[in-house]
Amino acid sequence: METVSVMIPEERVNARINEIAEQITKDFAGKSLKLICILKGSVFFTTELAKRIKLPVKLDFISVSSYGNETVSSGRIKIIKDLDDSICGEDVIVIEDIIDSGRTLSFLLEMLKNRKPASISLCTLLDKPSRRVVEVPVRYSGFEVPDEFVVGYGLDYAQNYRALPYIGVLQFED
Ligand code: IMP
Ligand code: MG
Repeated sequence: METVSVMIPEERVNARINEIAEQITKDFAGKSLKLICILKGSVFFTTELAKRIKLPVKLDFISVSSYGNETVSSGRIKIIKDLDDSICGEDVIVIEDIIDSGRTLSFLLEMLKNRKPASISLCTLLDKPSRRVVEVPVRYSGFEVPDEFVVGYGLDYAQNYRALPYIGVLQFED
């Protein structure tokens, strides 16, 4: 069995999302944005961010395979559901829940760059820099977290805990 304890309370997560949205609003002043949500983990972060960005925003969704039901990266990445629309000529922000090894985002970034967006930036709610295998150019990052398995605010363990309104740490007990 596993238990969850609070690592980052809801108020701190929301306050940080406010700050990131303000920064994005400044950085892209006068433009409109396409936010790309990486399913399913980024859903909560993407919608909270989108509501707070004071610019015209479009949303699209992509789903890639990652960990399955394990807590260790397999390194295998494939597109389960592609974007619905073209991103050619658009200012794009790719939104991730957490960057761990960096494999998912570096793969996605290369793939999406080939579709000729006007610009492409990466935004992650959480970053585990100690686990990085592939460098990725992150422009917006919510929180750095230690090398522990975190859940909540979209992040899952075997599809559970996504709807927790805070970031929690998973502890395994027997
Ligand atoms: P990466 O390709 O190794 O950077 O893996 C990123 C993906 O792994 C994230 O989108 C998550 O789905 C998953 N992941 C990595 N660390 C955690 C964690 O601590 N909790 C939940 N999911 C995680
Ligand atoms: Mg994920």
